[in-house]
Amino acid sequence: SELNKMIHSLGPEVSEGQRKAFKNEMDNFHHMFTRYLADRSKGVELDWDMVKEPRPEQIILYKKLASCETTEILDKLAVLKLNGGLGTTMGCVGPKSAIEVRDGMTFLDLSVRQIEYLNKKYKVNVPFILMNSFNTDEETKRIVQKYSNQNVRILTFNQSRYPRVNKESFLPMPRSPNDDSSGWYPPGHGDLYESLVNSGLVDLLLSEGKEYLFVSNVDNLGAVVDLNILNHMVESDSEFIMEVTDKTRADIKGGTLIDYGGVIRLLEVAQVPPGHIEDFKSIKKFRIFNTNNLWMSLKAIKRVIDNKELELEVIVNNKTLDSGVKVLQLETAVGAAIKHFKNAHGINVPRNRFLPVKSTSDLFLVTSDLYSLHHGELRMNPQRVFPTVPLVKLGDKFKKVVNFLNRFESPPHILELDHLTVTGDVTFGAGVQLRGTVIIVANHGNRIDIPTGAILENKVVSGNLRI
Ligand code: UTP
Repeated sequence: SELNKMIHSLGPEVSEGQRKAFKNEMDNFHHMFTRYLADRSKGVELDWDMVKEPRPEQIILYKKLASCETTEILDKLAVLKLNGGLGTTMGCVGPKSAIEVRDGMTFLDLSVRQIEYLNKKYKVNVPFILMNSFNTDEETKRIVQKYSNQNVRILTFNQSRYPRVNKESFLPMPRSPNDDSSGWYPPGHGDLYESLVNSGLVDLLLSEGKEYLFVSNVDNLGAVVDLNILNHMVESDSEFIMEVTDKTRADIKGGTLIDYGGVIRLLEVAQVPPGHIEDFKSIKKFRIFNTNNLWMSLKAIKRVIDNKELELEVIVNNKTLDSGVKVLQLETAVGAAIKHFKNAHGINVPRNRFLPVKSTSDLFLVTSDLYSLHHGELRMNPQRVFPTVPLVKLGDKFKKVVNFLNRFESPPHILELDHLTVTGDVTFGAGVQLRGTVIIVANHGNRIDIPTGAILENKVVSGNLRI
């Protein structure tokens, strides 16, 4: 009834279309909330005995794919970036995609460059689509408007805006559709399907002869269009492909693919019964994880939404607002839809297709000489002896992007670095070289300034030492 009150409180200035869209959004939210309540009372849990490793035909090795010689299939492709999230973990107030990554270019700039180059190289016109949220739409449009005359058509749409729910009373936090943004949230990237269809873009793309959609996280700079995968999707008549990659001990967070009663499914840590969490993290039983690079059939997306088939597992996100009020956010994940599509399967891709920036430690890597930029694409420097990425842990003083930037006069040279840990108040001069394993610990109240041009090789620096 609170939702109904909000729907009826819309003033006469609101157009019929906007009214319908808001009602639809609230209906979808209500459906999700009802499912959450039902699951809660039934205590729905996965039957762990049914969780099996995927069968070999459910995960295909990338190197076994046929090499694609034709480029005509690109005429049927559209590329979409998930761009609803904020960069709060890295201390940013705006969209994560507005963070400058390299050469003054943001994630958005780099993604646009990749598509521009693809279009130029193959003389095609692959559209670039951004799924924004009410948090990211304005800033994103400001950034991409400079590309309006370039060789790339940019389309945007907004994902849903759902009300946060008070954990005690189970009532929605906002009292009116115009209440300030802290009462609302974008309900995870699983919202893509509903929002994309409702925006009218699926129909538009289908009418233009597009059939396939390549979706990825906007912060994954390794998610470039791959003709071999697209070709495989066409040849295998598959409606959905998830790119997965080999899990290492550092990748305990990502979801994995399982065989559940003969159906391929995404398993996220949130669905794992408490007694099996260690099992889930093990890299022996679950060898691969989801990169969130996904290839989908546009017709199949439309079918699943039109038939109201889509039932994605609800992920409960508990939050405490600045006011101290405890709230629930119900979310879904885009990859969870794999179970609804025909011939859906995983492709085990090389690690370089997964280059996400989740923290400033990741930012440290992508801004360094470990990579170079080619038309918006990062390539690992061939001079690196081992093709693995160094393990980098920068402490809390580096957590926010502004602090991170202020602590380096220029990005250190890390071609020969294996492992770096930095804790406390540490700064780096220009042109520092880090090799092997380097640990720098400035104890509380102390500061360490690594001087310009210093070479640190297999070294531990601690205390308030100035080298
Ligand atoms: P996530 O928030 O799921 O993953 O966003 P993350 O970046 O790994 O988050 P943390 O660091 O674990 O908290 C993955 C992608 O999905 C988009 C984000 O913008 C990002 O590109 N996203 C996320 C949306 O588009 N909408 C959402 O509601 C949530």
